[in-house]
Amino acid sequence: MNHFLDIHKTDATDLRAMIDQAGAMKQARLGRPKAALDDEQALKDRMVALIFEKPSTRTRVSFDVGVRQMGGQTMVLSGKDMQLGHGETIADTARVLSRYVDMIMIRTFDETILTEMAEYSDVPVINGLTDRTHPCQIMADVLTFEEHRGPIAGKKVVWTGDGNNVCASFLHAAGQFGFDLTFTGPAQLDPEEEFMGLARQKGSKIVIERDPHKAVEGADLVVADTWVSMHDSQSAKERRHNMLRPYQVNTELMSHAKPDALFMHCLPAHREEEATSEVMDGPNSVIFDEAENRLHAQKAVMRWCLGV
Ligand code: CP
Repeated sequence: MNHFLDIHKTDATDLRAMIDQAGAMKQARLGRPKAALDDEQALKDRMVALIFEKPSTRTRVSFDVGVRQMGGQTMVLSGKDMQLGHGETIADTARVLSRYVDMIMIRTFDETILTEMAEYSDVPVINGLTDRTHPCQIMADVLTFEEHRGPIAGKKVVWTGDGNNVCASFLHAAGQFGFDLTFTGPAQLDPEEEFMGLARQKGSKIVIERDPHKAVEGADLVVADTWVSMHDSQSAKERRHNMLRPYQVNTELMSHAKPDALFMHCLPAHREEEATSEVMDGPNSVIFDEAENRLHAQKAVMRWCLGV
């Protein structure tokens, strides 16, 4: 049994195998008769609990569909409707759920909730996003990049805006998959030093460049994300927008990257804020492939967790 808690906590060889298996399962579903699919029994007779303490569209639907495609069943649970949201401890919740289900995916707030769930669970636990990281998203993003441009190793990724939880998982992936990452954004929103250090220790070139035009020079991939995350105070919205406006990804900024540089955004987006519709709907944008690949990448993650 394996927990999928974070990219830097998962063996790099296993991560590579998951990306390759995700791509193979995706290809197998294109134009193949259902009976010929090798993944449709992988989770037969398995029950997966999907716990959401925060809103979700992609994570909720892609996990639900992924489990069903592999022959399993899901129960989608809202944190506030569980005793977890009314004082029951995480440890007790984990021990009880382990008696009912075969795997737990949780989207939550503080990462200690995730790690405590994993510590007390007898079944695999998957990180569906915490305030600190979002590893499933970046598994999908690596798969998406490689589908379009081949191996991501040695490439230059530029993260624009807020060094948030998604950026953190991109830094973890830089170290594990061997690419470089430049962060461009205001100093107040820099990614955590610890995460940049981890990537550097693995040999990745991690750069902070305040000038977004300089940052995107030579970029193979430019990434934007919402300027105000779910865990950010809404009262800080105006201040954040003022700080982040120079980092908007628009056609002019993209013109400084490589001509074939891809554009990614994990969605949901605030169009015309962190990125313009011209870029999001433009020829270099792969945002909807990213969303689709949540499904395929997470299927591989779940198989790895259960060893099936
Ligand atoms: N990218 C992402 O995690 O989307 P949801 O919040 O809709 O799940």
